[in-house]
Amino acid sequence: MQLAVPILLFTILASGFAQFTLRSWDDAYALANATVAKMTLDEKIGIVKGTGQLNGNRRCIGDTTAVTRLGVPSICFNDGPAGMRLTRNVTGFPAAINAASTFSKRLMRARGKAMAEEFRGKGAHVLLGPAMDIMRNPKAGRGWESFGPDPYLSGEGAFETITGIQSAGVQACAKHFLANNQEHWRYGLSANLHDRTMHEIYFYPFLRSIEADATSVMCAYNRFNGTSSCHHAGLLGPNGLLRKNGFKGYVVSDWGATHDSATENANAGLDMEQPGDFILIGGGVFAGILGIGELGGLKGAVQSGAVSNARLNEMVSRILAAWYRLGQDSGYPAVNFDAQKPDGSGPRNLHVNVRTAEHIALVREIGSASAVLLKNDRTTVNGSSIIRGLPLDKSKIKTIAVVGQDAKTPNKNCGDLNQCNDGTMSIGWGSGSNSLDFIVPPIDAINSFVGSSATITTSLSNDLNGGENAARNKDVCLVFANAMSGELGLVVGNDGDRNDLALWFKGGSLIERVAGVCSNTIAIVHSVGPVSFSWSNHPNITGIIYAGAPGEQTGPSLVDVLYGAYNPSGRLPFSIADKENDYGTAIVYLSGGFPDINYTEELLLDYRYMDAKNITPRFEFGFGLSYTTFGYSGLSITNSGSSKVISFKITNTGGVKGTEKPQLYLGYPGGAGEPPKVLRGFDEVDLNVGASSTVRMTLSQRDFSIWDTPSQSYVRPPGTFSVYVGASIRDIRLEGTF
Ligand SMILES: *[C@@H]1O[C@H](CO)[C@@H](O)[C@H](O)[C@H]1NC(C)=O
Ligand SMILES: *[C@@H]1O[C@H](CO)[C@@H](O)[C@H](O)[C@H]1NC(C)=O
Ligand SMILES: *[C@@H]1O[C@H](CO)[C@@H](O)[C@H](O)[C@H]1NC(C)=O
Ligand SMILES: *[C@@H]1O[C@H](CO)[C@@H](O)[C@H](O)[C@H]1NC(C)=O
Ligand SMILES: *[C@@H]1O[C@H](CO)[C@@H](O)[C@H](O)[C@H]1NC(C)=O
Ligand SMILES: *[C@@H]1O[C@H](CO)[C@@H](O)[C@H](O)[C@H]1NC(C)=O
Repeated sequence: MQLAVPILLFTILASGFAQFTLRSWDDAYALANATVAKMTLDEKIGIVKGTGQLNGNRRCIGDTTAVTRLGVPSICFNDGPAGMRLTRNVTGFPAAINAASTFSKRLMRARGKAMAEEFRGKGAHVLLGPAMDIMRNPKAGRGWESFGPDPYLSGEGAFETITGIQSAGVQACAKHFLANNQEHWRYGLSANLHDRTMHEIYFYPFLRSIEADATSVMCAYNRFNGTSSCHHAGLLGPNGLLRKNGFKGYVVSDWGATHDSATENANAGLDMEQPGDFILIGGGVFAGILGIGELGGLKGAVQSGAVSNARLNEMVSRILAAWYRLGQDSGYPAVNFDAQKPDGSGPRNLHVNVRTAEHIALVREIGSASAVLLKNDRTTVNGSSIIRGLPLDKSKIKTIAVVGQDAKTPNKNCGDLNQCNDGTMSIGWGSGSNSLDFIVPPIDAINSFVGSSATITTSLSNDLNGGENAARNKDVCLVFANAMSGELGLVVGNDGDRNDLALWFKGGSLIERVAGVCSNTIAIVHSVGPVSFSWSNHPNITGIIYAGAPGEQTGPSLVDVLYGAYNPSGRLPFSIADKENDYGTAIVYLSGGFPDINYTEELLLDYRYMDAKNITPRFEFGFGLSYTTFGYSGLSITNSGSSKVISFKITNTGGVKGTEKPQLYLGYPGGAGEPPKVLRGFDEVDLNVGASSTVRMTLSQRDFSIWDTPSQSYVRPPGTFSVYVGASIRDIRLEGTF
């Protein structure tokens, strides 16, 4: 019987049978209200708070209490934003920052759906993601869990991911609301933002999440403008940001992010507390554990009238409505894993295998599509048949060096938070990490692809002399380096946030030593965000691939790009500058208590700051090379109702089939107070050699407005707008105005 379960489930997923009936919010609320009307006070309290992290019966990273007599199960919340965690036989997906690097809405959505199919297969109702925290500073520990520093790209990433997740009948949880932008002091720092900055940058991806109909939002650990995010009525309340913008789902706390009284939290708009108990950093306010908040917790507060029955009913209704809306009340798989036994042991782990061939192929495709080709000096060496640069030609390359610990498999015994750092970097650490069980490291994929066509010499450590020796007299040298960050936790001296922008383990020196003896050096960087590329102009470095955090199929996805089976089309979702100062923001590491962090840079993050301050980055936002070339022509700007339609033609002018990622930047009229250029559109265009295609992008009225604080609305500033279409923010090919 147990054996039949995985086989059956696999079939269901593979045949796309995981169908469900999407209800309207009205229908979902009608059902929820009717169920709530039958509940006792204790049953309601059991729905709005987790059963406790210390509860031995807990199955997931967070659970609610079932009301079996009414058919309501324990709702299962699980990490994380790059795939199921704390269980076996799941897929390790690429990080969200790689989804951003694809500049492909199709792949962003497909990734969300595939991850959700695995959550559903394991019986988890809520995927705790996507994260959409703006990468305010490149060293921010959890930056890789989200879509980078640009609000528009982050908004599209959030929208597509949520649409994908919920299309599999799994609830998405938009997090972390709001301005959760560094790890140091996160449990109490106050992010202080002006209204316009909040709307145009940090809230924008959440606005897109509401438009994608996210069923839940997670409030953050940090304070916002001095008040705890989880009891900030201006964020969560009836007239707060979320509800004013049409949010219909529920707000769940980050784990332990609640403080003060049950009354304050419930009345400010928090609908559910997780994990339910006090976990030292906070939590337990609804439970009312002795000494935390008010005695009697939420139940006492309702009994005394401090929290109204109507408010409690609303909280429960919102949670149940999300569950009814996605049809989770019918045919949803029961929880079949045990997050308290991540190794798959124990009687409650039923060994359901939710990996599918489609998911694995998708991870590989996104890995390739997110690899950014930063440099390619393709030249023929005199007197030799070797062509330097990329793609590599399997029939001509006879000797290969593979150098760097980042090419090999990591030691996987590094705890539930995946703080592995002695092998290839495929994902950062912490609750946003994912399974390393099936990782295929670069060296394995290179060995299996090359076979006997060439000899491979390796030095799979960062030993500088070893690397140099391996690299001598080779046709090509593949040198790997990385940098990592994560959620809290001291790893190689980095406490969540990175200390600096250097490659780890002297990776930069390793690359330079290899290049010193090898005139065809290809550098591959796996990183959670911008790093120093001070070595990029070295004449012997003929190719550079920035591969980000690509997930478990890291090796095969890279081989596809190196040998030309996949023509690279990844684009930088951030700028790579030479100095940290070039980014204009800082992480606050040292403070005599929880700091106030004033976001005084306002709208000027990343390329917006660099453009405004005339700083030339080494590699700019949106940049990425291809093995072919593309021509742009025929810009036209027309009206369509209150929108503008921008269209132009792209032609593949090079020698191989490829994919272009055209980008639309908007220049506001002077006086609007906007940066010189802001991203407002991107697309994905596959073209055979010589073929052309017309691209259309629509700018809505909101897309060419600014947030106007006095009127609390988006307003179009007067004057002439510039439209820039190009292959990156600094490679503008077409310009127009309206
Ligand atoms: C559900 O109940 C709430 C009050 O808690 C009410 O505002 C709402 O209109 C009801 N919705 C439906 C569809 O009955
Ligand atoms: C946060 O504080 C700033 C500065 O006082 C103010 O402009 C802004 O409106 C506040 N935001 C919220 C949501 O209260
Ligand atoms: C993984 O799945 C296989 C079947 O595909 C099963 O035999 C094995 O027990 C599962 N392992 C775990 C730890 O769940
Ligand atoms: C390559 O060879 C050609 C002719 O054989 C010569 O003119 C050219 O200078 C050489 N280039 C380099 C870089 O050595
Ligand atoms: C490039 O590599 C060659 C060995 O092929 C070496 O002789 C030369 O010094 C290197 N150039 C630099 C600038 O390191
Ligand atoms: C942040 O802004 C407030 C209000 O303007 C000011 O009082 C405070 O000193 C600032 N804090 C820092 C660290 O700059």
